[in-house]
Amino acid sequence: MTSKSIELVKNSWALVATMDIETVGGLFYKRLFEIAPDVKSMFSKTAMPEQSKKLLAMLGYVIAKLDKLDDIIGEVTKLAQRHESYGVKEEHYTAVGTALLWTLEQGLGNEWNKELKAAWTEVYIALSGAMINAAKVAV
Ligand code: HEM
Repeated sequence: MTSKSIELVKNSWALVATMDIETVGGLFYKRLFEIAPDVKSMFSKTAMPEQSKKLLAMLGYVIAKLDKLDDIIGEVTKLAQRHESYGVKEEHYTAVGTALLWTLEQGLGNEWNKELKAAWTEVYIALSGAMINAAKVAV
C-alpha cells in the first residue's frame, strides 16, 4: 500500500463517516446480498440498524489500522479466525470488496473517481489478503 493510497482512503472515509449510518449500511448490505445471497444467513440474527453500525465499525477498523497492518498481525489473525467462525470463506472477501466499492461510489457521488477507486482497491486487497492468509496459517 502506498502512503498516497492510504491518504486518499482516509480523506474519503472522513466524508463517508459524516453520512447517515443506516443509509450507507442499507446500500452496502442490499448490494452484498444481491452479489452473494449465500452470506445473508450469516447476518440474519442481527437487525439492520445494528448491522449497519457493524459495517461502519468494520470500515473504521480498516481505516484506523492502515498504516500499521504489519504491526497488528496478531489482531488480524484473531479477526480472521472470528470470521471463519461466522462461516466466511475466501471468495466472500471479493463479494464484500465489490459491495464496498459500489457503496463508496454511491455515497461519494461526484467525489468518486478512478484514483479513489484504485486507492480503495489497493487497500482492501492488502487487508483482505492479510485476513485470508492469517486464517490459513491459523488452521
Ligand atoms: C477486510 C475485510 C473485513 C474486515 C476488516 C472485517 C471486520 C469486521 C469486524 C471488526 C467485525 C465486528 C466483529 C468482530 O470483530 O469479530 C466484523 C463482523 C462480521 N463480519 Fe467482517 N470484516 C471483513 C470482511 C468480511 C467478509 C468478507 C465477510 C463475509 C460475508 C464478513 C462477515 C462478517 C460477519 C458475518 C460479521 C458478524 C456480524 C454479526 O454479528 O451480525 N466480514 N467484521
